[in-house]
Amino acid sequence: MLSKFERYPLTFGPTPIEPLPRLSAHLGGEVELFAKREDCNSGLAFGGNKLRKLEYIVPDAIASGADTLVSIGGVQSNHTRMVAATAAKIGMKCRLVQESWVPHEDAVYDRVGNILMSRVMGADVQLVDEGFDIGIRQSWENALADVKAKGGMPYPIPAGASVHKFGGLGYVGFAEEVRAQEAQLGLRFDYIVVCTVTGSTHAGMVVGFAKDGRQRNVIGIDASFTPAQTRAQVLDIAQKTSALIGGKDIVADDIVLNEDYAYPVYGVPSQETIEAIRLSARLEGMMTDPVYEGKSMQGMIDLVKKGFFPAGSKVLYAHLGGVPAINGYSYTFRNG
Ligand SMILES: Cc1ncc(COP(=O)(O)O)c(C=O)c1O
Repeated sequence: MLSKFERYPLTFGPTPIEPLPRLSAHLGGEVELFAKREDCNSGLAFGGNKLRKLEYIVPDAIASGADTLVSIGGVQSNHTRMVAATAAKIGMKCRLVQESWVPHEDAVYDRVGNILMSRVMGADVQLVDEGFDIGIRQSWENALADVKAKGGMPYPIPAGASVHKFGGLGYVGFAEEVRAQEAQLGLRFDYIVVCTVTGSTHAGMVVGFAKDGRQRNVIGIDASFTPAQTRAQVLDIAQKTSALIGGKDIVADDIVLNEDYAYPVYGVPSQETIEAIRLSARLEGMMTDPVYEGKSMQGMIDLVKKGFFPAGSKVLYAHLGGVPAINGYSYTFRNG
C-alpha cells in the first residue's frame, strides 16, 4: 500500500509483539493481551510513534531545501522530542514551541524528561503560555515566520505530525507489519487498542486495517479530553490518507473512539490511570506514562473487566512510547 512513497529510515525495523501473560491472567484469563512495542522502535532518543510518521515526512523536508524543522507540542511533548532527534540525525536545525497544555504544577516539569532531551539534542526550545489545542496554532506560525525572518528555511511539522499530507502513512505501515507478523505467529488479532490525541496514529491504523475489514476493531482511547475535535481530526486524516494511497472509503462509523478514560483533563492522570500504570509495571515490567499510554492501558484493562472483548479474543495494545514524560510526575509516584 505504501511502496510509491519515499521513506527515510529512522526506526530499527518491525517492532516486537510480546504476550502479556501475567496481566491477561490477572484480568481473568479469558482474553489474551499482547503489546506491540512501538516504544522500543529506535535508537533515536527513546523512540515512539512519531518516528513512523516522520519516516514519510523527512524525504519531503529534505527535498524542500529546508534547514530547520519547526514543530509544536505541550511542555512534555514526546513529539517535539522526536522532531529534535530527527533534526539531529538528518543534520538540520530544530525550533520547538512548547505550550502550557497541561495544568500541572510539578516544579521541574519544564526541566526533565522530554524537554530536557530536546534541549540536549540542540533544539531551540521556546515556552509559550497557551492552553491545549490540537489545531494549528498562532505560536507555531509565528515561529515559522521568525525562522524565515532570520534567514532560515523552515519546514513545518504540525502537532503530533498529524495534520500533514503524509502524517497518516506511517501507521498504515503498522497495519501491514501486523499482518505480516500475524502470518509468522500463526494468529490473528481481534482488536487493536490505541491511544488517540492528534489523530494520525489511529487514522493510519484505520486505513491500514480497512484492507482486511478490521478498521472498526481499532479501539481508540481518547486522551485529549476534547474528543469531538479529535474524532473529527481522525476521520479527516483517515479519509485523506486513504485517498492518497488509493485505499477503501472511510466513513464516520469506522472511527471508534472511547471517551471514557481521558478525565480529568489532557495530561493529568486520574487515580485509575495511576493504578493502571502501576499494574502493568508490576505485572509485566512494562512502563507507561500518565499522559497517553497510561490512559489507553487503563481503558484496555477496564474494557477487559467489563467484558467488552468476547472470551477468547486476542487484543493487541499498541504501546506508542512516551515514558520520558513520567519524570515530570515524580511527586505522584514518590511512593511507587
Ligand atoms: C506516547 C504517545 N501515545 C499516543 C499519542 C497519540 O498519538 P496521536 O497524536 O497520533 O493521536 C502520542 C502523541 O500525541 C504519544 O506521544
